Amino acid sequence: MKKVLVTGGCGYIGSHTIVDLIDHGFEVISVDSLVNADERPLAGIEKITGQAVYNYRVDLCDYEATRQIFLDHPDLMGIVHFAALKAVGESVEQPLRYFRNNLNSLLNLLDLATEHGVDNFIFSSSCSVYGNARELPVTEANDFQEAESPYARTKQMGEQMIRDVGRAFPQLRSILLRYFNPAGAHPSALIGESPVNPALNLVPVITETAIGRRTKLTVFGDDYGTRDGSCIRDYIHVMDLANAHTKALQYLAAGQSEEACEVYNLGIGEGVTVLEAIEAFEKVTGQSLNYEIGPRRPGDVVAIYSNYQRAAERLAWAPARGIEDIMQTAWEWEKRRSAPASVS
Ligand code: UD1
Repeated sequence: MKKVLVTGGCGYIGSHTIVDLIDHGFEVISVDSLVNADERPLAGIEKITGQAVYNYRVDLCDYEATRQIFLDHPDLMGIVHFAALKAVGESVEQPLRYFRNNLNSLLNLLDLATEHGVDNFIFSSSCSVYGNARELPVTEANDFQEAESPYARTKQMGEQMIRDVGRAFPQLRSILLRYFNPAGAHPSALIGESPVNPALNLVPVITETAIGRRTKLTVFGDDYGTRDGSCIRDYIHVMDLANAHTKALQYLAAGQSEEACEVYNLGIGEGVTVLEAIEAFEKVTGQSLNYEIGPRRPGDVVAIYSNYQRAAERLAWAPARGIEDIMQTAWEWEKRRSAPASVS
């Protein structure tokens, strides 16, 4: 059995990745402090996969408590590291908290991985490392621009820390995965995105509006120089994203990596405008959405989408789902989680 430690296993992308890892024969141990999550996704994972996943309620900034996990599981073959604070606006107000949490936790994990011989390390990064990208579609060769927020800077710094540690410890093989805009839910609707605070990302705002948790959606600007005036993003289905982590681990475990630290973009390689996303939702659900055009949101980039050719070539990964699958699964999940008797 290939045993993997998933940090942030109760979170949105972490829980979907656990399902995909189990589906591909991995045994998973989770560590999640539950600071921004609860353990309900574990019940969903068990229903989907038939396997119970144990979660250590541990803050990765606590070195001793984290070390105990490594002592309990001397047979770990890899780590998939999701656990981090990720609210962009909050990071602007609380930069010290973001640096302390996101960087100390990573330092402890790298320390323990090298000390305990856990050689395969997957890091959850973000297209926000590119800042306001100068060339579209964005390839991994694009330089980092100035980070737009302390959150984005923790991702830039985290990537650099992993690279440097890999130089000093050549047995550590790592992969940095730069996500574009993850959205959607597992097709069973047993797990999905559950924002603790009011949702800010487009897809949950759409489904929350449709279900009546909020009265309307505001489109942040329709006067950009795009095909319909609204901003363009690359929305990737969370199950496609999850599968990339499995593929990356399999690739490392098979000794296929060419460099100590490799980096991959994960998107679908196509841009979708805000208005097109709304239209896709209306089409798949047959509902009309209550939305209005509002002013631009400060800090928004006009357009960003990926080139994921490298992941396709080296990891044999390709996204299988598009914006309609995202809307369909996000909507099924929203209906289930909003139902009065909901257990999820
Ligand atoms: C945000 C984060 C980014 C993170 C990404 C994925 C910021 C500045 N960036 O990116 O770091 O990696 O989420 O989680 O927060 N929109 C509306 N109305 C809404 C909500 C969104 O029109 O109520 C529009 C936005 O203007 C944007 C698009 O929808 O054009 C997507 O927005 P969002 O889901 O918040 O993602 P990003 O801003 O791309």
